[in-house]
Amino acid sequence: MSASPPRRLGPADAAAYRVLRLEALRLHPEAFAADWAEEAARPLDWFAERLETSQVWAAAGPNAALLGMVGLMRPATAKLRHKAVIWGFYVQSGARGSGLGTALLTAALTTARGTAEEVRLTVTAGNEAALRLYERFGFHAYGREERALRVAGHDHDEVLMALSLG
Ligand SMILES: CC(C)(COP(=O)(O)OP(=O)(O)OC[C@H]1O[C@@H](n2cnc3c(N)ncnc32)[C@H](O)[C@@H]1OP(=O)(O)O)[C@@H](O)C(=O)NCCC(=O)NCCS
Repeated sequence: MSASPPRRLGPADAAAYRVLRLEALRLHPEAFAADWAEEAARPLDWFAERLETSQVWAAAGPNAALLGMVGLMRPATAKLRHKAVIWGFYVQSGARGSGLGTALLTAALTTARGTAEEVRLTVTAGNEAALRLYERFGFHAYGREERALRVAGHDHDEVLMALSLG
């Protein structure tokens, strides 16, 4: 499926963003720390506010529905703001394997390069598609949090990864 180039979302994209975000949480509960039921209960304004305060890029398909997205968060506090965080990375299954994830991550990292010294993220152990993709961008694993997520009674470790932009 062909996708548009990634663009930065704003509050006006809240409804489309909400659809894709809830799909990601519903279909891949083990890949995200956020919980589908908790976010599904949030009002649309909550998603609009997130798009105002966070940086989220997304790409759309031919019918304008969003196919993939990624977030970049830079802490506001002085002692943390050298480290940006990649979060909420998702591409719909039908659009995977054709470079959309790469394009989204490239957009987020291009912005991070101008503002942060390092980018960090966590990925659930065993998520080979994501791990390989991050490694291709130069991310390296610097730790592992055991039992980081409990999903439907099953515990999952998370791999902690970092990319130096220096
Ligand atoms: C991770 C994800 C965003 C990648 O999106 P994508 O559009 O398929 O990514 P791309 O097409 O740009 O890149 C594919 C790359 O991922 C890796 N990859 C994809 N599918 C893979 C698989 N089944 N096994 C191993 N590696 C795989 C490869 O490194 C591949 O690189 P290549 O082009 O050199 O072969 C997508 O798989 C996804 O949304 N997964 C579910 C949610 C998730 O796990 N999010 C990450 C949370 S940390």
